Amino acid sequence: MQKFQGTGPGPQTEDGCSVEFYRRLPYQGELDEILPLLPAGASVLELGCGTGRLAAHLAERGHPVVGVDDSATMLSHLPASVSGVHASIETLALTQRFDVVLLPSHLINHPDAALRASFVACAARHLAPGGVFYLKRHDPAWLRQVQPGPLAARHGVSYAADEVVRDGDRLRMTLVYQAFGERWTHRFETVSLEEAPIEDLLARHGLVAVEWLEPHRLWAAARSLPLSEGLASHLDG
Ligand SMILES: C[S@@+](CC[C@H](N)C(=O)[O-])C[C@H]1O[C@@H](n2cnc3c(N)ncnc32)[C@H](O)[C@@H]1O
Repeated sequence: MQKFQGTGPGPQTEDGCSVEFYRRLPYQGELDEILPLLPAGASVLELGCGTGRLAAHLAERGHPVVGVDDSATMLSHLPASVSGVHASIETLALTQRFDVVLLPSHLINHPDAALRASFVACAARHLAPGGVFYLKRHDPAWLRQVQPGPLAARHGVSYAADEVVRDGDRLRMTLVYQAFGERWTHRFETVSLEEAPIEDLLARHGLVAVEWLEPHRLWAAARSLPLSEGLASHLDG
């Protein structure tokens, strides 16, 4: 059985996301915890931007935004305010450096540890000195408890779990989205991550001063070294 698969109207991405669902989904406050922390005009790179739902929200607030996705179909819906790059996160090699790199949408919970590391490496190599990487993880408590059945309804979208299979810290589940008179499903596998393994991963890529943002501690912020400290540690090493 495929780990990542989607059903419903319209095309689906490699990881099972439905383009039509994300194209129609409004911004639901996903960035509200970090928006006040971004310096005015800070340049932002969003990894896994989809149709630009979050990136457009940042652009509206005056941030120059580049969005990366490996789905050309998702990127074809980006608004003009967002620059799109068709690439996989793991191989991305832009010459531009950014004040902020974002890894939202729980992409850090990918079950493949090598891929998780490559996402963090991508963020580290695209941050300007002193820049900040923000990542959002799944709530480990939610992953432990979630059961098949209705989950939530927000902004006209109802969410349900249709299949939940646990194997240690891994979970395979199917989420069902009903909205706009349509129904989509998204089957995916995810791994539960506590704070420590994420902090280790960040440190291994030179990202320091990790902060977990209250109240839920699901967003982590970590900094690349400022130019002076980066040079000093290079000379020491
Ligand atoms: C759940 S969607 C979220 C899109 C957007 N962040 C939002 O919230 O509307 C995840 C997106 O990440 C993209 N994606 C997943 N893995 C990727 C990878 N390794 N490289 C590039 N894009 C990836 C998918 O194609 C998809 O568009």
